[in-house]
Amino acid sequence: MPDGPLTADDIRAHSDARWIGARIDCLDTVDSTNSWTRDLGLQGAPDGTVVTAEEQTGGRGRLGRSWVSPRGRNLYVSVLLRADLPPESLSQLSLVAGLAACETVDEWCAATLKWPNDVLVGGRKVVGILSELESRGAARFVVLGVGININMRVTDFPADLRDKAGSIAAAVGAEVDRARVAGRLLSHLERRYDELRTRGFAAIAGEWTRRSGFTGRRIRVEEPGGVIEGEVVGLAPDGALCLKREDGSEHRVIAGDVTVLDGYPGSRKEK
Ligand code: BTN
Repeated sequence: MPDGPLTADDIRAHSDARWIGARIDCLDTVDSTNSWTRDLGLQGAPDGTVVTAEEQTGGRGRLGRSWVSPRGRNLYVSVLLRADLPPESLSQLSLVAGLAACETVDEWCAATLKWPNDVLVGGRKVVGILSELESRGAARFVVLGVGININMRVTDFPADLRDKAGSIAAAVGAEVDRARVAGRLLSHLERRYDELRTRGFAAIAGEWTRRSGFTGRRIRVEEPGGVIEGEVVGLAPDGALCLKREDGSEHRVIAGDVTVLDGYPGSRKEK
């Protein structure tokens, strides 16, 4: 059976974050927690405000896609960050959020990162991240949206996603407490975000690379300007993905949609 509705107290019981989540609004139904949080940001809500929802009627994904958001099964959460970071750091912030989400899921089952910021378990996508920059008039902030498939069963996904999407519960074989996942995510996110601000992305890139399970794999990237294939060499200090093409030339990917051509390693972790 799914657990009860998320509450701010239950989430905080599992979080050691100091400022992310000082305000947590747990909503029932919303179109998108990102849109709701953007509106809160425009109304002056404080840095680190967190919004969750039991279900989203218009959950948004990257590249104009939708995010499957049925009631009560998963975590749909957005965090308002009044980021004192340069605009080019938005992609780094998304990568850092991916790392924090990966560390969270990894507390239940072995998780890997897929550039730019998906988290996979056994090769299936369990986490998606949508970060959106708002700069309207004097307002300037980032809304970081994280969707974590927690208690979804394979049959809860639309048919076209069933061989690509997964959940923590499907990996561990038992239902998982959503409030605990949410609390752990806020903890990891605050620690990694503070690290990004104080030490810069280069300090985090090594851990990202270690968790990517990605180096050396052959991938295809659909970039805005066309399709490219190559072997992943690693992550540049600015967050770009470095590829080696068949002819030996190197290529930096700034944005795009990645398909792994030679599969992902996947394993279970005992809990
Ligand atoms: C992706 O396409 O991989 C990104 C998915 C991001 C989904 C989350 S769920 C919470 C937040 N609200 C949204 O509408 N989207 C993000």
